[in-house]
Amino acid sequence: MQVIEQASVMRQTVQALRCAGKRIGFVPTMGALHEGHLQLLRASIKENDVTICSIFVNPTQFNNPEDFRLYPRTLQDDTKLLQSVGCDYLFAPEVSEIYPKQTLLRFSFGELEEVMEGAQRPGHFNGVATILSKFFHMVQPHKAYFGQKDLQQVAVVRQLVRGLSFDLELVCHPTVREENGLAMSSRNRRLTAEQRQLATSLYKALQLAGSQLKSKPLASIKEEVATYLQGVEQVQLEYFEIADPETLQTLHDLSQVEEAALCIAAFVGEVRLIDNILVNLK
Ligand code: PAJ
Repeated sequence: MQVIEQASVMRQTVQALRCAGKRIGFVPTMGALHEGHLQLLRASIKENDVTICSIFVNPTQFNNPEDFRLYPRTLQDDTKLLQSVGCDYLFAPEVSEIYPKQTLLRFSFGELEEVMEGAQRPGHFNGVATILSKFFHMVQPHKAYFGQKDLQQVAVVRQLVRGLSFDLELVCHPTVREENGLAMSSRNRRLTAEQRQLATSLYKALQLAGSQLKSKPLASIKEEVATYLQGVEQVQLEYFEIADPETLQTLHDLSQVEEAALCIAAFVGEVRLIDNILVNLK
C-alpha cells in the first residue's frame, strides 16, 4: 500500500490511474478504523480496480473543540489494518496541506441541516461538505462509500454530489454492529467497558420503537423511548426522531411513506453517540 500525504501527489496518482482505465473506489474516514470501516473498504476493493482510503480528522466538521482534541488518532494501527484488507492507497494529509488558508466558502443544505445532527452540531455538515468536495476533486473516484450509521451525512452527500455534479456513484453500506448490537464507532474507544454495555441501550431503544411502529401512535413511542433511556444510568438522550429516510424530516403520519428512519443521539458518559435503523412499513 502506498501512503500519500500531499494533495499534488494524490492528483498525479489518480490521473495516471484514470489514464490507465482503472476504476477508483474511495472510502473517506477519520481513522481509528474498526470493522465498520473495513466493510466499506472490502466492498470497494471488490467493486473497483483500485481503492483509496483517506484518513483525516477534519477540524472544520467539529463543532466542539474538545471532541476534536479527544478524537482517537491511531495512524500506525490503521495503516496495518488497511494493508491487511488489501487497500491500495492511503491518503493521509496534514491539516495545513488541506486548509492552507481559511476558506470563506459556506455550504447550506436547507431543511436537511435544520434537524437532528444539523440542528445539534451547527456547522458540522458545512465542514463535511467542504472536506468531501476537496477530496472528491483530489481523488476523482468512480464510486465513494459511506455508512448508513451516519444516515443524515449520506443525505447531505447525496445533495452535494447532485448539486455540484460530481461524476461519481454513492454507495451506502448497512451499519456494522458489535454482537451486542452496539453500532461500531471510533468514539466507542472512549467508553469504559461498563459504558460499552450501557450504550447497547441505544440500539435496544431503536428496536423497541421499531417493533411498535405499526401499532402505536408516534408520540407515545417517543415517550416510551425517553422513559426507557431515563432508566439507564450514564445515558442522556439528546433526540429520538422518526423521520423520512431521504429528507430526514420528522414524520407525523406513516400512511404516506414506505420506510421510516428511527434516529437517536445520546451521551453515554461524556461520549456522544448516534445510531439509526430503517423500518419497512409495507
Ligand atoms: P468516520 O466517522 O471515520 O466514518 C467514515 C465512514 O465509515 C462513514 O461513511 C461512516 O458512516 C462509516 N461508518 C462508521 N461507522 C460505521 C458502522 N458501524 N457501520 C458502517 N459504516 C460505518 O464519517 C466520517 O468519518 C467523516 O464525516 C468523513 C465522511 C470522513 C468526512 O470527514
